[in-house]
Amino acid sequence: MVSRVIPVEAFDLVIFGGTGDLARRKILPGLYRRFIAGQMTDDSRIIGAARADLTDDIFRKSVAEAIEEFVPANRRDPKLIADFLARLHYVAIDAQGDGGWAQLKGLMRRNVVQAYYFSVAPALFGDLALRLKSHGIADDQARIVVEKPFGRDLASARALNATLAQHFHESQIYRIDHYLGKETVQNLMAVRFANILFEPLWKSEYIDHVQITVAETVGVEGRGAYYDKSGAMRDMVQNHLMQLLCLIAMEPPYHFDPDAVRDEKLKVIRALDPVGPLDIVRGQYLAGAGQGSYLDHCEDPTSRTESYIALKVHISNWRWKGTPFYLRTGKRLRARASEIAITFREPPHSIFDDAKGWRENVLVIRLQPDEGMNLMVMIKEPGPGGMRLAQVPLDMTFADALGPEAEDVPDAYERLVMDVIRGNQTLFMRGDEVEAAWAWTDPIIAGWEQRGDRPQGYDPASSGPEDALMLMHRDGRRWREIRE
Ligand code: NDP
Ligand code: BG6
Repeated sequence: MVSRVIPVEAFDLVIFGGTGDLARRKILPGLYRRFIAGQMTDDSRIIGAARADLTDDIFRKSVAEAIEEFVPANRRDPKLIADFLARLHYVAIDAQGDGGWAQLKGLMRRNVVQAYYFSVAPALFGDLALRLKSHGIADDQARIVVEKPFGRDLASARALNATLAQHFHESQIYRIDHYLGKETVQNLMAVRFANILFEPLWKSEYIDHVQITVAETVGVEGRGAYYDKSGAMRDMVQNHLMQLLCLIAMEPPYHFDPDAVRDEKLKVIRALDPVGPLDIVRGQYLAGAGQGSYLDHCEDPTSRTESYIALKVHISNWRWKGTPFYLRTGKRLRARASEIAITFREPPHSIFDDAKGWRENVLVIRLQPDEGMNLMVMIKEPGPGGMRLAQVPLDMTFADALGPEAEDVPDAYERLVMDVIRGNQTLFMRGDEVEAAWAWTDPIIAGWEQRGDRPQGYDPASSGPEDALMLMHRDGRRWREIRE
């Protein structure tokens, strides 16, 4: 398979927070990879902006170090790195002050795509939007890219939407959820909508339940201050897991077009039932395996913030009535493994006298690592002795099926930045979608805050709290094992 890299239009991309962690680890190394792939035209430029008083040369040197640290050695070519660095500039700007904006205005060109990436604390998003306009810098076609978290509840998300809307049209606003940029997450749409095979079965009549798991081995460590005000529900469920659920549950859009896709996702979010206390399990990791506990990593030793959450969710519409979606995500679990497992119902009638060995068909979509799909099907156990059944996987590991190209797919951030330049909003969240997600999330959080619930401790390197097992056991189901 030959990959086709189509260069994007010439652009000036300003990264506010261009010296920060996200820019160094993800955005700038990702842009370098797109550059060496031939996707950036020669006259495109990247302008770092932050308060520190740096020269272009010092900024370039720090980006060279980031490339050294975050791009694999086989992709690092000194000549290409030098060519890439030559396209970088730096402007010292305080989002909340007036210095530096005139210099930025002088740098920006009118005849290329203008994009402004807000990779700074969310409290500064409004200041940046205001000054980009009041200093006459951003034009009417300019795009702004807004990082997560987009609010911490419905009220703050609404306020942020309203602030941005004072200065930019919705078609100019790109709200990042990096899960949507993952190759395998987009594959969910390809699997569902480019095959006739699954769609007739894609409903509660044939699907018993769906499990969505995003398990991490990392703890909160250096991010304790941020994370403790957030927790797994706000940090992962309201955005990333919600997006996965939408892609599995939505109706086929009429076209792979930004608003057609986002309209369908929005309908799913609006059809989510409230979740009661019995359908929620929250956990906090304990110390173990030479690592500190969650409470060792946050400032408040009595914190009730969850580092793990499992939920049973129902979607009230014709397609999904009666099919629960079990979601779980957590830190410091036994393996880094994200997958979606769709478990089908029993055949209506078994023709075999001895159905011993029978198990449900399961479609497992592995998101990371080792991306691919497994369809668990029943076959006859080989050998004489009558019809005994055995379950085997129809295994498609993308790296095996697609060859080396599958290993060289763009990282989520680099793909999403290129989509911004192309002006394609399909993989970005619309304002109403984010608000609907918070409208569902808020009462769930308010519920456990009012009840004063404490998260249950769980051992690091386990599958999470014991109660999470019960969440499924009492329905006669069980979680799939978390393993890489
Ligand atoms: P950092 O704290 O590492 O970096 C913040 C950046 O903003 C620095 O470049 C800083 O430089 C600049 N900055 C701070 N204050 C101002 C100001 N008043 N005016 C202009 N620039 C300013 O943050 P991260 O890179 O980790 O995060 C950036 C955004 O990305 C946040 O919204 C975060 O939630 C989000 N995000 C980050 C992820 C990550 O993995 N890091 C993951 C997902 C989202 P200086 O101090 O010189 O001004
Ligand atoms: C981020 C969360 O959005 O996603 C982190 O803030 C989490 O807490 C990360 O670790 C997970 O992303 P990935 O791409 O490693 O699955």
